[in-house]
Amino acid sequence: MADRQQLACDVFTVDLNQITVGEVHEECYETMGRCTCRVVCVGRLRKLWVLIMAKILLIYSTTDGQTEKICYRLQKVIEQQGHQVTLCSITDCSRIGLQSFDKIVIGASIRYGKHSPLVTDFVNRNKKLLDSKPNAFFSVNVVARKPDKNRPEGNPYLQKFLKRISWQPRELAVFAGRIDYPSYGVIDRMMIRLIMWMTKGPTDPKSVTEFTDWQKVEEFGRLIGKM
Ligand SMILES: Cc1cc2nc3c(=O)[nH]c(=O)nc-3n(C[C@H](O)[C@H](O)[C@H](O)COP(=O)(O)O)c2cc1C
Repeated sequence: MADRQQLACDVFTVDLNQITVGEVHEECYETMGRCTCRVVCVGRLRKLWVLIMAKILLIYSTTDGQTEKICYRLQKVIEQQGHQVTLCSITDCSRIGLQSFDKIVIGASIRYGKHSPLVTDFVNRNKKLLDSKPNAFFSVNVVARKPDKNRPEGNPYLQKFLKRISWQPRELAVFAGRIDYPSYGVIDRMMIRLIMWMTKGPTDPKSVTEFTDWQKVEEFGRLIGKM
């Protein structure tokens, strides 16, 4: 046990007599709407850790659900780090008080070469606020299944998007998405099959192919927790 009876961090003071060593002791304190703290008392080492638990907002723009699925995986990883995650579709987030979050992450998929205009609008409207907090952006597209296009520097959609906005996200990622032919309408299926044929991807109209590298998604989740 730490030799003092009380341990103070910049947010609150913990009475060590109230904590049983070996147990995860959870007490949440809201302070200045900025952060929440959690006290974890670790086993035989008799050490006391005070974790700053951030409130993280994940905003997603999706058409077929893959970007949302990626956000769920990010949420799982980030919450395992002790943080609090809120997921919000770009279509609903105007109702959310962005100011109350410590970090903001935006994820958006590509459709016919572009992210949804809602994403550009959101970024332009909230640039100042985004710049004031740790922030990140990720793009989901199938071009990213190619090794030379699966990093932010090499992905043409992400690079084009960054040139069109004045926000410079602190962290960036690109994830390969999913091709789900059975769920597409006739025209989309035909177009995607043509593009896939030209770029040596799957063309079987009955096939569903998930290209997403989940390990890479999880690494990004850990990075968000730390940023
Ligand atoms: C109609 C349609 C158009 C697409 N256009 C592109 C494209 O131009 N470039 C690309 O890399 N991927 C393209 N994709 C692939 C999507 O980015 C991929 O399916 C992604 O997983 C979709 O994410 P979402 O489910 O979150 O919308 C397209 C998919 C569809 C269905």
